[in-house]
Amino acid sequence: MNNPTNIKDSVVLITGANRGIGKAYVEEFVKAGAKKIYLGVRNLDSVADMVAANLDTLIPLKFDVTNAADIKNAAKEAGDVDILINNAGILFFDDLSSADAVDNARKQIEVNYIAPLAITQAFAPILKNNGGGILITLSSIVGHVSMPAITTYCASKYAVQSLILNARAQLAAQGTRVIGVYPGPIETDMAADLDMDKAPPSQVAQETIKAIENGEEDVFTDDFSKATYQAFRADPKAVEAQMLEAAQQAA
Ligand SMILES: NC(=O)c1ccc[n+]([C@@H]2O[C@H](COP(=O)([O-])OP(=O)(O)OC[C@H]3O[C@@H](n4cnc5c(N)ncnc54)[C@H](OP(=O)(O)O)[C@@H]3O)[C@@H](O)[C@H]2O)c1
Repeated sequence: MNNPTNIKDSVVLITGANRGIGKAYVEEFVKAGAKKIYLGVRNLDSVADMVAANLDTLIPLKFDVTNAADIKNAAKEAGDVDILINNAGILFFDDLSSADAVDNARKQIEVNYIAPLAITQAFAPILKNNGGGILITLSSIVGHVSMPAITTYCASKYAVQSLILNARAQLAAQGTRVIGVYPGPIETDMAADLDMDKAPPSQVAQETIKAIENGEEDVFTDDFSKATYQAFRADPKAVEAQMLEAAQQAA
């Protein structure tokens, strides 16, 4: 990829491409003129209709992000990728009093942190071979600011923030742009039980594409995410006080 802001002619791989934000990425990258898009999915049937409607562009790839053989196979099959999107993720609701908090933490660290770490390792040489490219990883506003109702999920996204920063520093020399995406509540299955205003998944994809085109690295995709991050930057202790209030209300 000689011009890293040019989405037309790019080859994209999206994990968790069958629904939610991943599916929105597929739709928006098609609209933006991507040449080829690999849809990383656990169940190939889940994208059969999408692929049939865009046979020239979309390529389904069996890709459980926790499966080492699938990662190896994806790197073999998709050696022409120049935009990689680590999107697949899981969320459990819990707090420190939850009996399943430790189990939840292990599962979320596996899918939300260890998988993007392993995929980043596998694809870094591919991005390098293809001129540097772009590595995009889905964190969350709760990768910066903790929320009591999703205690162990937040920790997995803090780990993702460390991955994003390390990748940005370590892959700069090979010309890879590293973009972190920090949505607030988004209207997908993951947030179905969250009683908050939610932005559409298409907005996450559109804001990411704008960031690619404008050369930005940190994508706060919606009003909630932007306002929360600004409040955190202005006064981190005030945001902690809000958490305390939320925990007291929940008790
Ligand atoms: N929704 C929000 O409010 C929100 C806010 C901030 C950040 N995010 C982040 O945005 C990303 C996408 O979330 P979403 O809202 O679109 O979630 P979603 O609607 O629940 O979809 C999750 C996607 O991840 C896939 N996935 C889960 N485990 C996988 C695995 N082991 N291997 C491969 N794919 C797997 C799912 O595939 P299956 O269909 O096979 O399960 C599905 O495609 C996640 O990283 C999430 O943490 C979401």
